[in-house]
Amino acid sequence: MNNLVIHADKGAHTINRNIYGHFAEHLGRGIYEGFWVGEDSPIPNTNGLRRDVVAALKQLNPPVLRWPGGCFADEYHWKDGIGPRADRPAMLNTHWGGVVENNHFGTHEFFELCAQLGAEPYICGNVGSGTVQEMQQWVEYCTFNGQSPMANLRAANGRAEPWKLPYFGVGNENMGCGGSMRPEYYADEYRRYQTYVRNLGGNQVFKIACGPNGANYTWTEVLMQSAVDYMDGLTLHYYAMPPWGDRKGWATRFTKEEYFETLRLALVMDDLLTRHSTIMDRYDPKKRVALIVDEWGTWWDDEPGADAAYYFRQQNTMRDAMVAALTLNLFHHHGERVRMANLAQTINVLQSVVLTNGPQMILTPTYHVFEMFKTHQDATYLPQTLKCADCAAGGRKIPLVSASASLKAGKILLSLVHTDPDRDTVLSVNVRGAKLRSVTGRILSAASIDAHNSFDEPTNVQTKPYTGAKLETETLCVTLPPAAIVTLELSI
Ligand code: AHR
Repeated sequence: MNNLVIHADKGAHTINRNIYGHFAEHLGRGIYEGFWVGEDSPIPNTNGLRRDVVAALKQLNPPVLRWPGGCFADEYHWKDGIGPRADRPAMLNTHWGGVVENNHFGTHEFFELCAQLGAEPYICGNVGSGTVQEMQQWVEYCTFNGQSPMANLRAANGRAEPWKLPYFGVGNENMGCGGSMRPEYYADEYRRYQTYVRNLGGNQVFKIACGPNGANYTWTEVLMQSAVDYMDGLTLHYYAMPPWGDRKGWATRFTKEEYFETLRLALVMDDLLTRHSTIMDRYDPKKRVALIVDEWGTWWDDEPGADAAYYFRQQNTMRDAMVAALTLNLFHHHGERVRMANLAQTINVLQSVVLTNGPQMILTPTYHVFEMFKTHQDATYLPQTLKCADCAAGGRKIPLVSASASLKAGKILLSLVHTDPDRDTVLSVNVRGAKLRSVTGRILSAASIDAHNSFDEPTNVQTKPYTGAKLETETLCVTLPPAAIVTLELSI
């Protein structure tokens, strides 16, 4: 018997809207052709930014956007990306294929993109190859509201008003691409660099330290021990990236065994969040410092023949949608500590929500998950008790169902993920502490787990109304079709 009890009278933390954040790096066709086409492009744009992409993303209520990397952040020199575009120096993007970066998308274009999206800006600064002065001046350039060298330069470049810069990251993956540092060394560098990330002109910066990759618990321990008082957030990066020998596997061609292994790896996030949070609790029992999962998602092999400009462009199937839905449910459960997350990477790179091809644009199954779940943003998390069987294949076991519930404006949003790719599952749902009046639902499912949208078949995978939930006296009887993601709106 699979049963879920939702404790509607025990509302806990708020699910921070920033859990639904995004990440965009100068990598492949994410920024250029994805967001930025330039003012002279025949592709309809507003101030150089694609109208179709911005309109699609706005539907998701994107709360925050992280930029410019990723590994790119630690070789990015922001002054190359301001002023007249024709005069901006080009650079080599050595991390991502050695392509030439023309710096046409820089600070002003990023703030314009955030404004068009209605998202808060999160800039990641350069510790690996940049100076303290460079970082200090970037913050001054963005936020100072009086006469100063950087504020005057900003005004000369057409922007008199300062911007709000609420989130600033001090380096990215500094144990690896961000400078190959030991945690002790980075902790000291973090303390030094963040000193000069000033609150200017009424702007309050939430300072984010580079945290661990995956299960690097030593990194978390050292950072918390040495720098807890100097940070507001600590990052975690984790990709569901199954190792199949020396391959990660294809995005669209995979076996059922690979499907199970991917979902199992996505659920490893639960253990990572628990264990990193436990370490953080020892130094920060009041949970002042947020755990910020500012890179997460699936990562598959590049399609054969992909050139450097198409780095990490991958299709996105129902399997990716399942990973997104499982992960978002986990973020809700850990929402007391996890207060921001940024899917890698929005458009044309890794687990994208949007893919473009010249003037064409499609929405991926992952897009639909973000759209179905968006009501969870800023809602009150409701604790739950879930008892369900396991789903097993090829020696791998994962729970049949993942669930999370939240309360907003007198309605409960329940998000369910059914992992079994072959058969239906019946789940009974009881709500404690409130009377259930009615239910409506939506579903994302497809004929197969590798189903996806393409430029020829853009609506192959899309949401539909769901009528498989029946209210029987006090109990909701929910029949979940194979490999399906369901959201239910419960009126109480
Ligand atoms: O998202 C792609 C890369 O993955 C990022 O640049 C880096 O931070 C991570 O290793």
